[in-house]
Amino acid sequence: MLNDSVKYIKQLIRDFEPEIGIVLGSGLGELADEYCQMSIEYKDIPNFEVSTVIGHRGRLVFSEISGKKVVMMQGRFHLYEGHSVQKSVLPIKVMKKLGVKTVILTNAAGGVNASFSPSDLMVITDHINFMGVNPLIGANDDSMGTRFPDMSEVYTPEYVELVKKTGNEIGIDLQEGVYMALTGPSYETPAEVRMARVLGADAVGMSTVPEAIVASWAGMKVIGISCICNSAAGVSTVGLSHDDVINAANSAKNKFKLLIKEVIKRL
Ligand code: HPA
Repeated sequence: MLNDSVKYIKQLIRDFEPEIGIVLGSGLGELADEYCQMSIEYKDIPNFEVSTVIGHRGRLVFSEISGKKVVMMQGRFHLYEGHSVQKSVLPIKVMKKLGVKTVILTNAAGGVNASFSPSDLMVITDHINFMGVNPLIGANDDSMGTRFPDMSEVYTPEYVELVKKTGNEIGIDLQEGVYMALTGPSYETPAEVRMARVLGADAVGMSTVPEAIVASWAGMKVIGISCICNSAAGVSTVGLSHDDVINAANSAKNKFKLLIKEVIKRL
């Protein structure tokens, strides 16, 4: 399955060898429109799925950003779309096979930490897998990673520091914290958000964690950045809607793009 996808992509991109992979979350896909030298639609790639979510375009984009070769996923595969957790991480395994050394995982998330505001960017320092599944369940591909991988430092500490330092240098305030993933698609109840807080989460979302587990297992460095799009249920009195999430991502997108470009420059 993996090999067919990789073979198809390689035959199109030829000697373009991306060293950085970026997964662009809801409302954050514009970076790929801005930097698109070459693109491949998911629907044309063997074993890829089409993106069904508004704000997710559904293509792989190849380009140079800040002098580095990059592959971007403009849209990802979520569990709530009905995809298996294994399918949701296929693109990360593809990135590994294409030669990617560092992945930057981005997402839209709800703020659990009461000091966060909509449109804040949060550097992910750790995660809680609350999806009830693990993408590494099943036969282990020993050529990629070990059966029982250590998850002590999924989000490369050196790069967490690099992102914070970059934010500082370019005048973008950054939050940092723990991201908890649930399957969705329903947003959390206020009680679930209280639970998330008690368990140590600063933000909640419906993606990223399976990708981070696989990237870490496969020996890639991982950077995670959440765009806090709303206060999670019960944190503020306002109700939640996907439109509000997209709007908040939209108002954060310029600083988001700037941060990513500057981080890539420093990698
Ligand atoms: N919860 C889960 N996922 C999300 C949220 C939220 O409040 N906002 C954006 N993605």
